[in-house]
Amino acid sequence: MTNLAQWLSQHAVDQKLASVVASMAAASVEIDQVLRRAPITGQIGVVGRTNIQGEAQKALDVISNDVVLKHLQDNPEVSILVSEELDEAVHFGTNGPYLVATDPLDGSSNLDVNVTVGTIFSVLDAAGGLLQKGSAQLAAGYAAYGPATNLVLTFGQDVTVFTLDLDGDWVLSKEGLRIAPASEEYAINTARERFWDAATKGYVAENVAGESGPAGKRYNMRWVGSMVADIHRILMRGGIFMYPLDSETMSKGGRLRLLYEANPMALLVTAAGGGATTGRQKILDLQPNDIHQRVPVILGSAEEVARVEAWYERG
Ligand code: AHG
Ligand code: MN
Ligand code: MN
Repeated sequence: MTNLAQWLSQHAVDQKLASVVASMAAASVEIDQVLRRAPITGQIGVVGRTNIQGEAQKALDVISNDVVLKHLQDNPEVSILVSEELDEAVHFGTNGPYLVATDPLDGSSNLDVNVTVGTIFSVLDAAGGLLQKGSAQLAAGYAAYGPATNLVLTFGQDVTVFTLDLDGDWVLSKEGLRIAPASEEYAINTARERFWDAATKGYVAENVAGESGPAGKRYNMRWVGSMVADIHRILMRGGIFMYPLDSETMSKGGRLRLLYEANPMALLVTAAGGGATTGRQKILDLQPNDIHQRVPVILGSAEEVARVEAWYERG
């Protein structure tokens, strides 16, 4: 059995960069332990504050953010932290070469119902500043706290999966993960249909039409409501995840955040051979203008993403 530390050294990952990934992995182990006991410790519910996004912060959002902050503060290789739960970027006052952007706890709406949630992270060269394109990411990954806890990691080339064992060690589970190019599964919040644009309506209608429609095959729909869980399913067995720009999210630019949701997931999905687009532009090519910027997100199996892009080209 190979663990994360062994894998990082076997693959000759730069030691400083490896230490940043190891810090996020260690933070995820601690968050995993907090989540598993939350119904007993009473660390549930909202804390009565909103974050800069105007969203109610849950106790576990705040705790998870504190855990990540602590682990990164203790790592001299990290000088800047951008977090969904912190209004401003934190500068640690070190010369550490790396910047980390994180969604410390993704899927907050699923917290009190014991459904999979996750921690997402992106690692960049701190010298490049706060607003770098996703293509500049040096590493990205997420922890998914499900029946098993997985760490899914990329340095831009391949995607590797680790599983947390009962001793708190990340054990190698899968190397060279590839997303199936074709799929019969799509993930979108269909309750928002009345806000959708023509491309989204057109693509989903084709899927709903099934084998007698233009797609020529029957589809299934899955929506967990935790991006980490939905993307994890897609990495494992194919599919497409969509949170498109719709008439309600238009003024904000979208629903999901570029720096710590869209970009890291786009790097992972692209490294696994899938596609990642806003519908009109590759996510990894977007120039950010704000650390909490929101963007439309469409990612997953290459053939499905190409079909959505074709709908946008028509309109
Ligand atoms: P977060 O919990 O970090 O705010 O992110 C929630 C996101 C994402 O995980 C999920 O895909 C999406 O919000 C769900 O949105 P809806 O509530 O509109 O389904
Ligand atoms: Mn999130
Ligand atoms: Mn979050």
